Amino acid sequence: MSRYATRDSITTAQLLKRKHAGERISMVTCYDSAFGRIVEESPIDVVLVGDSLGNVMLGFDSTLPVTVDHMIHHASAVTRVVRRPLVVVDMPFMSYQVSVEDALRNCGRVIKEASAQAVKLEGGSRIVPAVKALVDAGIPVMGHLGLTPQSVHTLGGYKVQGKGADARKAIIEDALMLAEAGIFALVLEMVPAELAAEITRKIAVPTIGIGAGAGCDGQVLVLHDLLGFDQDFNPKFLKKYANLGEAIGGALTKYDKEVKSGTFPTAKNEF
Ligand code: KIV
Repeated sequence: MSRYATRDSITTAQLLKRKHAGERISMVTCYDSAFGRIVEESPIDVVLVGDSLGNVMLGFDSTLPVTVDHMIHHASAVTRVVRRPLVVVDMPFMSYQVSVEDALRNCGRVIKEASAQAVKLEGGSRIVPAVKALVDAGIPVMGHLGLTPQSVHTLGGYKVQGKGADARKAIIEDALMLAEAGIFALVLEMVPAELAAEITRKIAVPTIGIGAGAGCDGQVLVLHDLLGFDQDFNPKFLKKYANLGEAIGGALTKYDKEVKSGTFPTAKNEF
């Protein structure tokens, strides 16, 4: 199978058309080919290889330790099997903040080595020079404002952003600047719903919300969260569409019991 886009593949241009046609966009995270195959067969539009893989797949307690090599390793597993949805890869902490040259080199690696179609960078005015250089180099960029987990220590925790008048104004200005710099879409995380709706009206590119209300052009959730892997993780913005944590735990308990009692394998499983 070709590793490149097919005739059915979702493009950044199609996402823009969706916004103008008032059609919503669905995005989920994905970090490996097991889930990639399932997402490929679903109607989901955009796959984000999020740096949330640091928490979900690697057991870190934040996204800060994630490296470009981690992202390439996981994104490659996804792009080996995902053809139709657009694949966007998060650039990890300190892979694009030091200089524009660094951003170009690291994003270029993700596009070349992992066959990603676009990258996502967190931040506002500070990253505008990098966004312009990447777009000039032919690399599509998704922005990310509001709760930007790579700045957790500056933000003082994982909490709603853009609440006061100044914070609200700053996020709107950042969104306008990023749109002007050439991003093709913008993630808005944990901001008041009416602020996200205002940004959605003000910028020409699609907004994708997480904890940002129904006024965005699309929604994103972490795949393992929406599938209910962690029974103790229940933030307000999350809706669980399955309870896989419990289902998998139950299956493992049953398997263990059958192995230990000698009821598995049976003659049906023998050669
Ligand atoms: O890394 C991630 O999963 C993300 C989404 C929550 C938007 O950035």
